[in-house]
Amino acid sequence: MSNDLALELTSVGKSFGKGSAVVKDINLRIAKGQVVALIGSSGSGKTTILQIAGLLDKPTLGTVTIDGVNCTKASNKYKTHIRRSFLSFVYQFHYLLQELSILENIMLPQLIAGKSKTEAIRSAQTILEKFGMENKASSMISEISGGERQRVAIARSIVNSPRLLLADEPTGNLDPTNSLNVFLLLHSYVKENDSSMLIVTHNHLLAEKADCTLQLKDGLLVKL
Ligand SMILES: Nc1ncnc2c1ncn2[C@@H]1O[C@H](COP(=O)(O)OP(=O)(O)OP(=O)(O)O)[C@@H](O)[C@H]1O
Ligand SMILES: [Mg+2]
Repeated sequence: MSNDLALELTSVGKSFGKGSAVVKDINLRIAKGQVVALIGSSGSGKTTILQIAGLLDKPTLGTVTIDGVNCTKASNKYKTHIRRSFLSFVYQFHYLLQELSILENIMLPQLIAGKSKTEAIRSAQTILEKFGMENKASSMISEISGGERQRVAIARSIVNSPRLLLADEPTGNLDPTNSLNVFLLLHSYVKENDSSMLIVTHNHLLAEKADCTLQLKDGLLVKL
């Protein structure tokens, strides 16, 4: 049943302007509960695929189906709804708000999604405890380490319980121990919640821990 798939890209191609295709004939299916790693050299089109999968960019060819619904020609309103309710992006650099405390950074997406302040505080505290950072709740971003910042970014990206995580080198600027920790936090979120993840990584040790690893080469996906 197509609804067992969180994400399906069918014959997706993308060119920018009059340039040649960056990716061509991409076919990708991510089932609920599945972690898929995406590797490929710089400029091979990994971010492009994530942007298309996350409805931030349109494919030149092909279709993007999310949770069983073909979103290729959907209205902007529907795309925004899917982006807010179903998806979450995780980036290499955390984009946390410096003027807010750690707790407030994790509350913010919940308030945007319409949760009450009490509820947002409670969920933020629960997730900080889970991540071993409850004693840093009132710290400012400038007062915590790079690895801790990335953990806060992960907490923020999963606090609204997304069904599909699109992670673009989320461990790219971390040392091996922190990389593994951050990857395992994302991985266990997916497995415990029957969510799904497409994760771009240059780290082969992490890619091996995914359920499936795909390599982007010459605009096409190759299963490893
Ligand atoms: N908006 C754009 N306009 C024109 N060309 C673009 C645009 N976005 C990406 N490209 C080109 O598409 C190609 C793939 O870019 P992309 O960012 O997807 O690569 P990547 O695999 O994520 O690389 P990296 O590992 O360095 O992040 C590059 O050649 C890039 O210059
Ligand atoms: Mg990229």
